[in-house]
Amino acid sequence: KQNNKIVIAIDGFSSCGKSTMAKGLAKRIGYIYIDSGAMYRAVTLYCINHNLIDGNLIDENSLKKQMQNIHIEFKINTQSGRPETWLNGKNVEQEIRSMQVSNLVSPVSALKFVRTAMTTQQQALGKAKGIVMDGRDIGTTVFPHAELKIFVTASAETRAKRRLDELKAKGENISYQEVLKNVQERDYIDQNRSESPLKKADDAILLDNSDMTLEEQDKWLYEQYQKALFK
Ligand code: DC
Repeated sequence: KQNNKIVIAIDGFSSCGKSTMAKGLAKRIGYIYIDSGAMYRAVTLYCINHNLIDGNLIDENSLKKQMQNIHIEFKINTQSGRPETWLNGKNVEQEIRSMQVSNLVSPVSALKFVRTAMTTQQQALGKAKGIVMDGRDIGTTVFPHAELKIFVTASAETRAKRRLDELKAKGENISYQEVLKNVQERDYIDQNRSESPLKKADDAILLDNSDMTLEEQDKWLYEQYQKALFK
């Protein structure tokens, strides 16, 4: 089975380092990496730019009609070698990580027609296998037959601290309390929405990385990949 490419699904709570570990593994084993959260963030940015959100209220009818106008791509930045998110021909990799988008992405991603559209695109991206995709419902809904499924978790406090460091490094002026509140709110919405709620697949391997270094985590993940490959 050595030359067989597999599908690797990495799901879990927000800001638990899923994308860092997924990206690292993909690079190491020469797989494509797809950040499914970036797709929901891009849809959210589209809503903001087209005035489809008023306060917390989404203009669902208009968004539904405009879904076909939303084109999301991942392109490799030739300098960094990293994939970046493009929305309708524009690089939005930085913009989609803002607090404004983070605060509105959960309600947008709870909409059924948004999820259906994204799931279809994600499944197309994984057709040839050799892919690592991270998100909330990759192992449960997008690739229920993925050969390797990981479900990552860490305490809300640990995740808020990590997210705060990230945002501060980008120059966003925000308090720990605000970030913790955003993390907890997203956890709640992500776990309690009716469409594809965040939930560990029965056959996913649980990883709590609260007390793990990045090196330990990478090593652990690579071992899981090797086991899955020879299973
Ligand atoms: O991974 P992230 O924090 O960038 O994801 C942003 C939001 O998108 C998250 O709050 C929930 C949603 N999401 C989702 O509903 N399904 C996915 N597969 C990925 C993300």
